[in-house]
Amino acid sequence: MNSVRRVNNLDTPKYKRVVLKLSGESLAGDGEFGIDFKMLDYIASEIESIKRFNIELAIVIGGGNIIRGATIEKEGIKRATGDYMGMLATVINALALQDVLEKRGIPTRVQTSIEMKAIAEPYIRRKAIRHLEKGRVVIFAGGTGNPYFTTDMAAALRALEIGADVVLKATKVDGVYERDPVIFTDALKFDTIRFIEVLNKDLKVMDAPAISLCMENSIPIIVFNLKKEGNIEKVILGEKVGTLVEG
Ligand code: GTP
Repeated sequence: MNSVRRVNNLDTPKYKRVVLKLSGESLAGDGEFGIDFKMLDYIASEIESIKRFNIELAIVIGGGNIIRGATIEKEGIKRATGDYMGMLATVINALALQDVLEKRGIPTRVQTSIEMKAIAEPYIRRKAIRHLEKGRVVIFAGGTGNPYFTTDMAAALRALEIGADVVLKATKVDGVYERDPVIFTDALKFDTIRFIEVLNKDLKVMDAPAISLCMENSIPIIVFNLKKEGNIEKVILGEKVGTLVEG
């Protein structure tokens, strides 16, 4: 899984500045909890493959592999408390990702929405943009810094703030389906779909506030399978991979 692909120098990226949304779950690999370091290294290799196009890359990382506010609410923890715990979990993931990227020689900066200056930089929009312009991968941790908002929402918000061309939503399925493809193996996949359809059909792409924000501000989302090697590179080159949500 770690091979570095050779790309044609003539290949030109379709996007200049992108936000990649990585769920915490993706870091858990085939497990459900914690960080699978093989998976983390695979993700780093996929990211390395697109950095070679000189695109500007920001990553919003989730924390569901460690704690999920909405889930522990059922165990009697207040939702807001659980969400703050989840925000801390995203910082753990961000530091792990930073480390594996830097091991590959990719310069990174972690910014947190909640100040914890001994650990990472605080989120400062203009500084984040400066880092991107200097070729650093910026990892945004801490979600939006507010409970009741998901890290999908953080991805949409940060994408707008930094003027990204697209949000890349990395998932474990090949795109957006009419029904859950994990349960219904015959479910049909959309190549493209409009935001309003996603909302009306309640398709589980991102949560509704994140979709609405992208819709209102006309920033497309591409949903694709991160586990298929080379997919992210194809997405960046504009090849038809996953599902494009727009309109
Ligand atoms: P430029 O000077 O614009 O090129 O950016 P820079 O990030 O290289 O410079 P800066 O002096 O801001 O940061 C140097 C290092 O310190 C980087 O690794 C930053 O991530 C880190 N850093 C900067 N501010 C903070 C902070 O508030 N907290 C923590 N923990 N690290 C910080």
